[in-house]
Amino acid sequence: MDGTDRLVVREKTRAAEGVVALTLARPDGGRLPDWAPGAHVDLTLASGATRQYSLCGDRWDAHTYRVAVLREVDGRGGSAYVHDELAVGDTVGFGGPRNHFAMVPSARYLFVAGGIGITPLLPMVGQAELVGADWALLYGGRSRDSMAFRDELARFGDRVRLHPQDEAGLLPLASFVADADEGTVVYCCGPGPLLAAIEDATAHRPPHLLRTERFTAAELGAPVRGEPFVVELARTGVTVTVGPELSVLEAARRVGATALSSCEQGTCGTCETAVLAGVPDHRDSILADHERAAGDCLFPCVSRSCTDRLVLDL
Ligand code: FES
Repeated sequence: MDGTDRLVVREKTRAAEGVVALTLARPDGGRLPDWAPGAHVDLTLASGATRQYSLCGDRWDAHTYRVAVLREVDGRGGSAYVHDELAVGDTVGFGGPRNHFAMVPSARYLFVAGGIGITPLLPMVGQAELVGADWALLYGGRSRDSMAFRDELARFGDRVRLHPQDEAGLLPLASFVADADEGTVVYCCGPGPLLAAIEDATAHRPPHLLRTERFTAAELGAPVRGEPFVVELARTGVTVTVGPELSVLEAARRVGATALSSCEQGTCGTCETAVLAGVPDHRDSILADHERAAGDCLFPCVSRSCTDRLVLDL
């Protein structure tokens, strides 16, 4: 993101209790980059903070984006700013779109949304409907009033199962996925405990048939290596030793690498870097298991090295 691309807020509406939806456009009304379901944009707010928001509008509308923002009570201030201060006519910086939660082609999908996790799944159900796939959505939230876009989902009838926790308890994940056949791909987005629960509920299935997206970084154990390792920046041949006090990203920048970053928590994907040699210790919340096993890219804001040396395309 170069910080010069800006979007103007065209509309700001209440989407649910504690959730506002923003419609964003270029100030000159020009065409926006294309995107596919699962994509997010980075928005840079007046404070300089950058946040990632899933695109949840009509992907075929080339001139506006829609995002929805939950007010996070214990957040870092970004959502409070969007709720309390950002107004129609204001501009925000933007980068992207990027997609680390892309829909793979399938004849059958099961979607599981928890709270604001409905946002990337909303365009997915539209896409599934468009291509004639068989699909169902299980959508949970604290209460009915807290669940955004219920009105838009109503047209899908009983393919959508609303499950407010105060009326119906926890999501019945095991029964929802019980009949999933070998061709069914499960997509889940929501808070960490929901993602852990869906991993448990689908543990008997091949891991690539579950795709999840995290809004907050997963809890991590200690890195594979406690001792320092060497990172070589292939574009300049410069090497740098990375000790436990530094991220690979910080170390690379100290010796002149220009690497983009945004979340610096391993959730947004901005800093994705190709690995040319060595074995990465993946510590991001983005890659699926088979992508980790490939070992050909890493997110240097959080990921480290299993080997003495790592050669990166930086
Ligand atoms: Fe977001 Fe690295 S900066 S994943």
